[in-house]
Amino acid sequence: MKITTHSGAYHERRTEALVVPIFEDDGLEDVLISDLERRTHQLVSNLKKSGELTGKELETVYAYVPGDLGARRILFIGAGKRQEYDLNTVRRIGGTAARLLRSRNAHEVAFVRRSTLEVESATQSLVEGILLGLFEIGTYRTEEKEDRFIEQITLIVKPDEAPGAERGIERGQIMAKATNYVRNLVNEPSSVLTPTEFSLRATELAQRFGLDVDVLDEQRIKELGMGSFLGVARGSDEPAKMIVLTYTPERLSRDETFGFVGKGITFDSGGISIKPHEGMERMKYDMAGGAAVLGALRGIAQIRPPVRVIGRVPATGNMPGGRAQKPGDIVRAMSGKTIEVINTDAEGRLILADGISYARRLGANKIIDLATLTGSCVVALGTVYAAIMGNNQDLIDEVIASARESGEKLWQLPLDQEYREQIKSEIADIKNVGGRKAGTITAAHFLREFADPTPWVHLDIAGTAWVEEKRPYLSVGPTGMGTRTLIQFACRAAGEHLPH
Ligand code: BES
Ligand code: ZN
Ligand code: ZN
Repeated sequence: MKITTHSGAYHERRTEALVVPIFEDDGLEDVLISDLERRTHQLVSNLKKSGELTGKELETVYAYVPGDLGARRILFIGAGKRQEYDLNTVRRIGGTAARLLRSRNAHEVAFVRRSTLEVESATQSLVEGILLGLFEIGTYRTEEKEDRFIEQITLIVKPDEAPGAERGIERGQIMAKATNYVRNLVNEPSSVLTPTEFSLRATELAQRFGLDVDVLDEQRIKELGMGSFLGVARGSDEPAKMIVLTYTPERLSRDETFGFVGKGITFDSGGISIKPHEGMERMKYDMAGGAAVLGALRGIAQIRPPVRVIGRVPATGNMPGGRAQKPGDIVRAMSGKTIEVINTDAEGRLILADGISYARRLGANKIIDLATLTGSCVVALGTVYAAIMGNNQDLIDEVIASARESGEKLWQLPLDQEYREQIKSEIADIKNVGGRKAGTITAAHFLREFADPTPWVHLDIAGTAWVEEKRPYLSVGPTGMGTRTLIQFACRAAGEHLPH
């Protein structure tokens, strides 16, 4: 799909469909509205009179236009109150409009800019909304597959806005394509996306976008002493891999290395502590954190902020094989700490422990890990907010700000020392579960043991990495949660901020 700007009169633009946002408080005195009125035989005021067009957010009216316009059809889309209009509304408008127009078989459409939001970030958000909204998970369908495509999108702006809009298009495409890349990976069944295949995809990605890549096999993982990671891998016949991606900027503005660590469980059966069958098919998504790390490095390699970023994805299945790890086993992590494995289904923290130690070993001085870590997180925050915890409030605040700018939602949970009691072990340094209470927090405490004293933040994306309900700019299925936050985080470190 091609997205370009056009800085000319909106009414001259020849197009199959023109998208016009309408605010609740729009009056006929508005220059564009009154011009449109005149050219369309009072279409706007007629629709308002009939009560079909109120401007309520995401309301749509799609009509053939009589009159003096380059467009054959108009899609009016409700933009809510002007006062409340923000970048997230822009994303929702983009997704809703693009999806509706595709369903009506439009191939080429144009958007009119009506807001006074800063042009670059507004354009970026619109493009994100469009591309995220058009994503479909039906890759394996042979029937009823989406066969309608929008090929060309034009954004109509004022001449002095064009350069900003061009930059916004560029950035929006990078963000959305990185996210959709992640969604495709998460969507893959575990029979396709084995740890080996996962590492091959990472290798391809690295070659395409100019990243350094290294894939450690089990022998090298063992040499590094990652007993906690290997314990989980024992039950699976598919060999485990540690995926290592590195982005090195041409120039460094700050001598910092960010370490992104993602949970890469290609399928979580629970292992010997096997899960109930109901809903188990969803556990192919248990590598969503790892996929987000790949996507983030892809985006960062394109934007090229002046900071170093390393990605670590421990990848393995969690399976109940004959040689699988069993409850009661004790493993020794790379850091030297011993772990009593009470429940083999609490495997994410086991592989991340070594992933985090490895990122620290390679010089990461700020660590962010992402994981579909706990069912408790789904219970606590549902599919709207991901949980964030960490050992450094400044870093937590920075990540929350990055998320807000990218339209992702994070809610901080407490990580007070009292909760640490729950993961004390009688026989080893620590145990891998802390009982039913505050499961998301005790899981984070477990990770903290391996991160301290390096500034570290943990995102539990168990509820947000996959959605069952359609959202205005996210179709059903994998969301790519965390990808844009990580990219934005790297950009902010280079001094970039987005208004929100
Ligand atoms: N991948 C799961 C987390 C999960 C569970 C996500 C349910 C979405 C829905 C994780 O590995 C896991 O199984 N966690 C256990 C931990 C427990 C055994 C302490 C959980 O949350 O039930
Ligand atoms: Zn599990
Ligand atoms: Zn898991």
